[in-house]
Amino acid sequence: MSSQSITVDLGERSYPILVGKKLIKDLGRQVAHLYLGDKVATLAVAIVDDLYGRAVRESLAGSGIPSETILVPDREGAKTIRTYQHVMEQLLRMKVGRGTIVIALGGGCVGDLAGFVAATYMRGVRLVQIPTTLLAQVDSSIGGKAALNLPEAKNIVGAFHQPSLVLSDVSLLKTLPTREVRCGVAELIKYAAIMDLRLLEFLEKERVSILGLEEGAMVRAVSWATELKSGIVARDERDQSGLRALLNFGHTFGHAVEAAMKYHGLSHGEAIAVGMAGEIRLAEALGMVSKKDVERLEALIVSYGLPIRLKGVNHRDLIRFMGHDKKAEAGRLRFALPNGLGNGTIVSDPPKKTATDAMRGCL
Ligand SMILES: NC(=O)c1ccc[n+]([C@@H]2O[C@H](COP(=O)([O-])OP(=O)(O)OC[C@H]3O[C@@H](n4cnc5c(N)ncnc54)[C@H](O)[C@@H]3O)[C@@H](O)[C@H]2O)c1
Ligand SMILES: [Zn+2]
Repeated sequence: MSSQSITVDLGERSYPILVGKKLIKDLGRQVAHLYLGDKVATLAVAIVDDLYGRAVRESLAGSGIPSETILVPDREGAKTIRTYQHVMEQLLRMKVGRGTIVIALGGGCVGDLAGFVAATYMRGVRLVQIPTTLLAQVDSSIGGKAALNLPEAKNIVGAFHQPSLVLSDVSLLKTLPTREVRCGVAELIKYAAIMDLRLLEFLEKERVSILGLEEGAMVRAVSWATELKSGIVARDERDQSGLRALLNFGHTFGHAVEAAMKYHGLSHGEAIAVGMAGEIRLAEALGMVSKKDVERLEALIVSYGLPIRLKGVNHRDLIRFMGHDKKAEAGRLRFALPNGLGNGTIVSDPPKKTATDAMRGCL
């Protein structure tokens, strides 16, 4: 499959997401449409800059666009107030104005930082996302949510700031560690379970090509997820109508799992894999899916090397943290659950014992 262009339809703020192979070499030409004369600032982590920074700079330079790279700490270290301040100071030192473009070259952490920088530098400049992890390509680069963490709470400082362009180049995934690939797959399974049974069948069938990062399969998977998520974002950009909340399948339990483990030992994808296994059991207890559906989803999760059970966590801790989730609106527990595989619905405040029992089932 060759490259695809998917539009996130937001009226005047609509933007394209290009999904394909070897797209970086075309970056300069794409950015030239947005360029207003100020130097472009690319944010990246050192390891990703070593791999792809040069190609980005060369492509921009080839279209006559000057750029400078600002290196930032890896993983959640990118999403601190301190890193944010450092980047803002670098932009000032570069003497760039409102015409600058911030490029995020990296995973979801760099993307979230760059989004917040672009939302706030001089009250807002343009943003281009070049997601380099599968999770960032199928999830975090789409939809304009940007966030930083405080030591006390993840993603608590944030903004909505839509990019002007997203370039999802699946060729960049070939250097990604397998564990990171699985994290992205967990989000793909999430979309499939609540939105699209055909995607579920695709993931079942194409496991070897997906884990092997075969480019044709990756273009298909990334563009599929992009279409599903951008359709939701277009209808509920600011997470207000409940539609965007559907994307939280596996995340109510999953976030509690991450918090109970103090964000160590388990990646986000692994936590939501366990979360999906727990939440589909809740859906089963509520009569929304069959035992067969539960077994099918669990088999899919396990086939990608993701966990469905968790050891060493106390269920009381999990329950305590579930109440703290920022998505638990004013103490109410909300779940996005499959109502039949491939179809999702929001369930507010299911009977506490039913939810607790389902959660205990994953321990
Ligand atoms: N804004 C949103 O809508 C949204 C949605 C989901 C998740 N998120 C956020 O995304 C973050 C997680 O993103 P992530 O999973 O991409 O993690 P990440 O950004 O930390 O990247 C994971 C690791 O992979 C490395 N890496 C990135 N690309 C690589 C490549 N091509 N080759 C080799 N190594 C590479 C990174 O340096 C890092 O060490 C979390 O902070 C989460 O809150 C945001
Ligand atoms: Zn997630």
